[in-house]
Amino acid sequence: MSLRLIANWKLNGSKEFNDQWAQEFFKNFSSSNFKSIGIAPACIYIDHFRKVIGECGIEIGAQNICDEDSGARTGEISASMIKDLDCKFSLIGHSERRIFFHESNKTISKKLNQANNNSVMPILCIGETADENQKNNTYDVLESQISEALQDLIELNSLIIAYEPVWAIGTGKTPNPEEVNTVHKMIKDVVQSRFPKIGLKSVLYGGSVNSKNASSLFSLEHIDGALVGGASLNGKEFAQIANILNELY
Ligand code: PGA
Repeated sequence: MSLRLIANWKLNGSKEFNDQWAQEFFKNFSSSNFKSIGIAPACIYIDHFRKVIGECGIEIGAQNICDEDSGARTGEISASMIKDLDCKFSLIGHSERRIFFHESNKTISKKLNQANNNSVMPILCIGETADENQKNNTYDVLESQISEALQDLIELNSLIIAYEPVWAIGTGKTPNPEEVNTVHKMIKDVVQSRFPKIGLKSVLYGGSVNSKNASSLFSLEHIDGALVGGASLNGKEFAQIANILNELY
């Protein structure tokens, strides 16, 4: 499985939302190839959303998993639980988790292990803040996020990395696509040279992606797809982004 377009619905949704979203999405998606699309609803709606979309081939995943498999972790959901719900992937280390829930690279590394042990594809999210970007520290920040997250993993069959500059998330600002392409190349080089036993499937870009800027991003060599937040909440808009991706690959 290689996902190229993932919707991160964050803390949004309801049963009614699922129904309306699916109607809009299916009306506007112009292909029958759903294979590279993933949706991460709030965990509590996974089963409902699966019933709504049926067996069309869209993968459903989680926005987060616990760094432990079971036991005294009130309120948490484990990789084995989402696997039980037939989820194929989980976001790990999203910047909102790092900021609001104080997730460290060490915790993120444990979550990656949990995903790996349960054959759940991890989508490792990394990205620099505005301040780090202005100080030209982007490469160093990303390199240490990658190294610290992956250092305890001897082998990882499949991994997707989402490069999401924190300052681009939900702000309407995006870096120049050429800059994103260069950063993605660097991410691929770092993983390949330092962690040769890790199967990096793709590097997605995230941060204010919409149907207007998607083609300028997707047309570049090292941008393999996108992780989309705000624009993915609208079924029609997300279908249009998926259509652009399909035309280019
Ligand atoms: P955005 O969010 O598309 O709303 O910027 C992306 C994300 O947080 O994954």
